[in-house]
Parts: sequence; structure tokens; C-alpha cells
Amino acid sequence: MANEAADAQAYPMRGVPQPTREQTLNLPQVYISRHPVIAHKMTLLRDKRTAPPAFYRTVRELGALLAYESTADLKLEPVRIETPIESMTGSELAGGVGIVPILRAGLGLAEGFREVLPDAAVWHLGLRRDERTLEPIEYYNQLARSNNLQVCFSVDPMLATGGSAIDALNILKRYGVPHLRYVALIGAPYGLLKLRKAHPDVPIYLAALDERLDDRGFICPGLGDAGDRQFGTL
Ligand code: PRP
Repeated sequence: MANEAADAQAYPMRGVPQPTREQTLNLPQVYISRHPVIAHKMTLLRDKRTAPPAFYRTVRELGALLAYESTADLKLEPVRIETPIESMTGSELAGGVGIVPILRAGLGLAEGFREVLPDAAVWHLGLRRDERTLEPIEYYNQLARSNNLQVCFSVDPMLATGGSAIDALNILKRYGVPHLRYVALIGAPYGLLKLRKAHPDVPIYLAALDERLDDRGFICPGLGDAGDRQFGTL
């Protein structure tokens, strides 16, 4: 009996039914990148030989690339400017942009977003997944209420069981943060479906959709632990 309880803690996904990749490929408002440069860089991340400095740099680069993909439909407003030659009407983003990195693995992605969107406001949210229960635990919250945003991106490399993503979006909604979008590097079908059902109004952007979660709740084939590999705490 004691062994069974220990096993359930060590392997929380054992025996839990999971949807297939094909069943979750075409969910509404789920955008899975087809960009060849993103696919190339994802392979570098997945390779276990990639050491923390290159891993962190690549996460940042992927953050910038995903920022392009997930901002392609943002609204613009006209603005009058002077070029060195004459006056013209240019365009600027209508309303502010927010970025919420889910600590700690979301930090590298957020840095990539900031390279593309340097004026964005960054609010940190600390969520840690209890590795035995897979439940997210909130430990840091630096969110501000802001209503003049055109869009706010919650960024976190891994969408595994979906618990952290669902909790993060629940918290952001409680704070009244409008126009939320969720961005991750890799999703598992199980977490993607759960997130889609829990927050059907939030567009989801992924660099890749993987096959499944293993008994411990790790994404397969995945890339291992994105936090540890970025920060050298393996
Ligand atoms: C990882 C990851 C997500 C979460 C995903 O964080 O960065 O936040 O787990 O799992 P879920 O979809 O099952 O909730 P982790 O708890 O390892 O913390 P870290 O970012 O500090 O490494």
C-alpha cells in the first residue's frame, strides 16, 4: 500500500488517459509554428548536448521569433512623423503590450519578446510545479492592474499538464488583464486540450506540439527541464 502511494507520487501521470497529437492539432485558436527557422532552433534546444549558455541564447532567439508570429495581427494607429526628407503618416501599435514570464523558465522567452517589443511592460509571476502532485504553486506575484493594453502575453516554455498555464491565466484574469495570449515552446496534447477547454478565449501559440507526457509528467520527446537547462541547475 505504501509502495502504491509512493508510486502515485513519483508517477502522477501513470494510467491517465491522454489525447493523441492528431486529436489536438486543429483545436480552435491554437497556432503551431510552421516556420523553418523555428523548427531548426527547436532541434538545437532538444539536443541534450546543448549546454546552458547556448540553450538560454536559443530560448531568447525563439522568444523573438514567436513574438513575430504572435503579433502578426496586432492593430495599428496612424501617427504623423517627419522623415529627414518630409512629413508622412506612419503607423504605431495601438495600445500597450504586456509580457508575463512564468518564473522561472519563462524568463528567456520574455527576453526574446523584449528584443522585438522593447516598450512592453513585464510583470513576473512565480509558479512552480510540485513534481509529485504536478500542481502549480504560486510563490511570487508582481502583477499590476493595467487596462490600456492591446495584448498581454503569458510566456512559459513548457505546456505539460496545463496546470501552470491555466493557473497563470486565472490569476491574470482575476487582475483584470485584458486581451490575453499564451505562448510556449512545446505543448503536450494533454495540457493543450485542458488549457483550450479552461480558457477558450485565449489564443495559444506553440513552436511545437509533441506526442505525450511520460508517467512523471515530462513532455516526450520534449527537451527536458527548460528551467534547469537555461540556468545551469541540472
Ligand atoms: C515547468 C514549466 C511550466 C510547468 C509546466 O516549470 O516551465 O511552468 O513546469 O508544467 P505543467 O503544464 O504541468 O504545469 P517548473 O515547475 O519546472 O519551474 P521552473 O520554471 O522554475 O523550472
